[in-house]
Amino acid sequence: MNVRFTLNGKDVESETRDNRPLLDLLRVDLGVTSVKKGCEYGECGACTVLLDEVPVTSCLVLAPQVEGKTVTTIDGLVDDPLMEKLRQAFLEDGAIQCGFCTPGMLLTAYALLKENPNPTELEVKKAIEGNICRCTGYVLIIKAILDAAERVLAE
Ligand code: FES
Ligand code: FES
Repeated sequence: MNVRFTLNGKDVESETRDNRPLLDLLRVDLGVTSVKKGCEYGECGACTVLLDEVPVTSCLVLAPQVEGKTVTTIDGLVDDPLMEKLRQAFLEDGAIQCGFCTPGMLLTAYALLKENPNPTELEVKKAIEGNICRCTGYVLIIKAILDAAERVLAE
């Protein structure tokens, strides 16, 4: 079967199977390696993408489910001002170590700040509860998301 969707602002069409995970469609078939493959059962959040602007774990979405929809990875937000603020805050606050969780974490944080530009610490914690980081201990990630929110509000 063929699946057609919008990936990072571009229309794409790819031959695939009914049961192919979106994660493999993106990474293997379309070469979008910023989407990370971790647990493959919806527990780690490394494979997070935005599906019609909502964060989803792409290992649990099947290729046919994105037909006609919009998929966004960090590659599609290179010029986005909010994502730029998040990237800067992650860098300056030291919220990145190995970086494996970072694309998924950034996309989850991006979706949170789009919906709620002034989150509490608890709301940040709840938003990222599906994104596991094995390195940082989360404190600096939470700080970076709150700092990015502050920068948005200060504009
Ligand atoms: S690889 Fe999808 S949640 Fe871990
Ligand atoms: S920085 Fe290594 S998993 Fe988060």
